[in-house]
Amino acid sequence: MTHPVLIAPSILSADFGKLADEIRAVDAAGADWIHCDVMDGHFVPNITFGAPVIKSVRGASKKIFDVHLMIAPADPYLADFAAAGSDIITVHAEAGPHLDRSLQAIRALGKKAGVSLNPSTPEGVIEHILDRIDLVLLMTVNPGFGGQSFIPSVIEKVRRVKALIGARPIHIEVDGGITPETAPLVVKAGADILVAGSAVFKGGTQQSYATNISAIRKAAETA
Ligand code: DX5
Ligand code: ZN
Repeated sequence: MTHPVLIAPSILSADFGKLADEIRAVDAAGADWIHCDVMDGHFVPNITFGAPVIKSVRGASKKIFDVHLMIAPADPYLADFAAAGSDIITVHAEAGPHLDRSLQAIRALGKKAGVSLNPSTPEGVIEHILDRIDLVLLMTVNPGFGGQSFIPSVIEKVRRVKALIGARPIHIEVDGGITPETAPLVVKAGADILVAGSAVFKGGTQQSYATNISAIRKAAETA
């Protein structure tokens, strides 16, 4: 299945002191989805924000809130993230022993379910849960921080995941080091959702966000 390419700015790179305004600004600047990076200082070596923060900024945009949980365990918090207004909840395959159960729990909460794989995790882990997911999030950096360099070996993994998915209506999202330079590489391989933090929020104004988003979108369209 071929989807149009969508841009999902990661609010990890926004100014947390005015987070709701930053979300309004990227929304007006052309963001398709709002990507929320939740980190626990345990699964990844950084701490960001949790469900209460998402709930408090949810009203700043009507767009899809794409919530990327880099937390372990995730299961005890899924209901909170659903109630906070998440539209898509993505868990890491590495974050718990019962991926199938986590995905069932997300769908039982009425949300779209995603699974994320770290750069070193083989794509085979999704083979038996393909019917339970709406999205595969392939990390193109090791999760934990914005502003890292894209890991090119994941391009081949995007291709393999695309083949595994076949005709199923599952998005392939990439996250980390996405810029106008790297976007065409992953889109050509099959990615249709591009998360970008530093490449979108650089400049710090709505006008620069619009320029940055359209640069990534144009580059992706050349793929
Ligand atoms: C990394 C996060 C990413 C990150 C991307 O752990 O999941 O969403 O914010 O940031 P950039 O685009 O700056 O690499
Ligand atoms: Zn992310």
